[in-house]
Amino acid sequence: MMITKLLKNTIEDLFANGKGILAMDESTPTCDKRFSSNGIPQTLEMRRNYRELLATTPGLNESIGGAILYDETIRQQTKDGEPIASVLMNAGIIPGIKVDLGAKDLAGFPNEKITEGLDGLRERLAEYKSLGARFAKWRAVITIGDGIPTRTCIDANAHALARYAALCQEAGLVPIVEPEVLMDGNHSMQRCYDVTEHALKALFDQLYFFHVDLEGIILKPNMVLAGKDSKEKNSIEEVAQATVNCFLSSVPAAVPAIAFLSGGQSPQQASQHLNAINKDYKERLPWIVAFSFARAIQQPCLEAWKGQSSNLEAAQKLLYHRAKLSAAARRGEYKLAMEDHG
Ligand code: G3H
Repeated sequence: MMITKLLKNTIEDLFANGKGILAMDESTPTCDKRFSSNGIPQTLEMRRNYRELLATTPGLNESIGGAILYDETIRQQTKDGEPIASVLMNAGIIPGIKVDLGAKDLAGFPNEKITEGLDGLRERLAEYKSLGARFAKWRAVITIGDGIPTRTCIDANAHALARYAALCQEAGLVPIVEPEVLMDGNHSMQRCYDVTEHALKALFDQLYFFHVDLEGIILKPNMVLAGKDSKEKNSIEEVAQATVNCFLSSVPAAVPAIAFLSGGQSPQQASQHLNAINKDYKERLPWIVAFSFARAIQQPCLEAWKGQSSNLEAAQKLLYHRAKLSAAARRGEYKLAMEDHG
């Protein structure tokens, strides 16, 4: 009972005043990939500098209620010797932590993935809590292709997500439950709808079987979109409608909040879609519908920074602006014209 109250308070704080979540929990290989495409050296020190830049952005707490960190970052300090987690907390931003150990090949199922990291998770959660984390994240990856996803892949990932979520709640951490259906491929929007619906229904079955309290989770899903190599072009309204219909049919109203990932959409597209969902379907949504974007908030900032301290201020301004536009979209108040006022 006490735990439920604690989890609910964390969720309320994360999304208070129309805020959302900044995902800054790229694993080292993913962070290195992003750095390399922007000509930034892939070193421990550069990753630290970049995470310090993000965490110290002036005014970030106006739009961001929580930030998801990677294991390396939650143990790092700023140049002045302050833990990055404390910088965030002092700014009124709740630190969270990615606790899965990555999506690995699912044996016997070519091109499918299973997320690992359950062994020893109870002990790791206790440590992360002592480092200041109040919520956690686990990402499952579902790929659409010829004959995939299989039911085995969907069920295995749902099972792992539910075991993770139960352990988080036991520890008093809010689990962000992320079953990501990838945008990779040339599939139609309808195919994405069907796979997302299947993945969500399988997930909520498992959450039920593992006694996870739905009032104490955050769902982090993909939007319903055609594959990025598909010729199909859908309007913003079509995407919003398909996404809302899919989630209304598969996500219980007891879930307090859905925080979308951006999944490779441009920052502008992600804002437009989130905005349409909140603006056009306000009365029909039983949950808070917010964001937990990584690329759709960080991309312009990372491109401007280029790893050089002389660009720090300009990069922070772009981060602040993109976070602000995401929060406007979460309230259904985003307008294209706001893009120009960075
Ligand atoms: O787990 C996925 C990330 O936290 C969200 O990243 O917004 O770049 O898809 P994205």
